[in-house]
Amino acid sequence: MIPFAAAVALGIGALGLGFAQDAATPTTPPAKGVKGTNAKGQGKGKGNPAQSPASRLGPQTVTPQTYPAEQIKAGAQQFTAQCGFCHGRDTAGGEGGPDLTRSELVAQDLRGDKIAPLIRSGRGSMPAFSDLTAAQITEIVAFVHDEKTKSESLTGGRQTVDPAQLATGSADAGRLYFNGAGGCSGCHSATGDLEGIGTRYQGLALIQRMLYPTAGRPTPPRPKATVTLASGETVTGPLASQDEFTITVGEGDARKTYDKNAVKYKIDDPMSAHFDQLGKYTDADMHNVYAYLSTLK
Ligand code: HEC
Ligand code: HEC
Repeated sequence: MIPFAAAVALGIGALGLGFAQDAATPTTPPAKGVKGTNAKGQGKGKGNPAQSPASRLGPQTVTPQTYPAEQIKAGAQQFTAQCGFCHGRDTAGGEGGPDLTRSELVAQDLRGDKIAPLIRSGRGSMPAFSDLTAAQITEIVAFVHDEKTKSESLTGGRQTVDPAQLATGSADAGRLYFNGAGGCSGCHSATGDLEGIGTRYQGLALIQRMLYPTAGRPTPPRPKATVTLASGETVTGPLASQDEFTITVGEGDARKTYDKNAVKYKIDDPMSAHFDQLGKYTDADMHNVYAYLSTLK
């Protein structure tokens, strides 16, 4: 049996998906006192064979977040230029900077609410970056989360999984769950968006898709924000960005920024609703839903 519940508990990414070989190879721990042994971040306990796979994952992202691909790409450039020397190009640790994929602060960060102030003020031997614009910081934040997300889905599971092992569920029970307790049909349809999903993805790729649909997706649906002004007027639109103090709604020139203290606001993130739903899966539900989705040819 594949430990689906465990996969979900670990923040979804804990299935091997065949990428695990590299990370699973026990690496020699770096000599004591050697700082930033290499750019791959193995100096930070990743390769310590004494640790369990779960502890090697580091803290999991508390609130899964998605960002537009252009933002992530721009952030990658910024990160390489400004941060990569110390933290490694891939955020996994470098010359003296910690592995950000294992950072508690990054795991708890929501759209920059913790990372942005740290970038601005610096800490210890990390310099303050006071010249970066808010947009650049948002891009860097997007990249840092995207790298963390990737590391959660790639380094999670050590076991190699045979797709045949997955076929233990009941497609009928899965269909009932999909249309009933699972609440999937509130957002999906077997004859609509998910038609042919069993042809497009098979085996572990299908599992990954269902557990973690944002991976590799160019532009996941944007969260929708509803702001209620003091006057009682409401403004609804795509969430452009937010930080501790402000929220920006709308696209292009129609963007407007509001002071969070002066308005009420609500954010509907379709992806986080998908993730909330996943947290309720049991092992059996997972196998059943997988079996059902496999029949949607
Ligand atoms: C000169 C090296 C250096 C540079 C450049 C650098 N950092 Fe850091 N960073 C560090 C060090 C060292 C720490 C740990 C500081 C401490 O704990 O006091 C750190 C900590 C962090 C943390 C918090 C990790 C945690 O869990 O506490 C984040 C997030 C971070 N850096 C992001 C960035 C970003 C983003 C950039 C680029 C804008 C950047 N850093 C540039 C050295 C650097
Ligand atoms: C509140 C809405 C919501 C609920 C409930 C929900 N999802 Fe999703 N799901 C999404 C969104 C949004 C996406 C991303 C769609 C996209 O990127 O096109 C998604 C993506 C997926 C994908 C990938 C589709 C693809 O084409 O790659 C699968 C599979 C999936 N969900 C299965 C499920 C299952 C099974 C359930 C029930 C246990 C469920 N979802 C519940 C919103 C939801």
